Amino acid sequence: MYKGQDGAVAMLAKSTLEGSTGKWGTKPMKPQKVDLADAHKLSEWILSL
Ligand code: HEM
Repeated sequence: MYKGQDGAVAMLAKSTLEGSTGKWGTKPMKPQKVDLADAHKLSEWILSL
């Protein structure tokens, strides 16, 4: 969905680290306890699917 968009990796990493709300329905996701490097790796993986 965000594949190929400028800043997609940074945007998803930010959502992972800070939590996210209002993008997919009403349930919020809490901040995940991962460091910045892992959040970037996870974002790159998500975007590779
Ligand atoms: C390390 C593990 C996780 C990663 C990397 C991750 C990553 C993400 C990202 C990047 C988004 C934002 C999607 C977007 O912008 O469209 C998101 C949303 C969401 N996640 Fe996670 N997530 C993780 C674990 C979890 C867990 C454990 C839960 C539930 C307990 C969860 C529940 C949700 C929900 C409900 C949303 C939608 C929030 C919204 O509507 O904005 N996530 N997740």
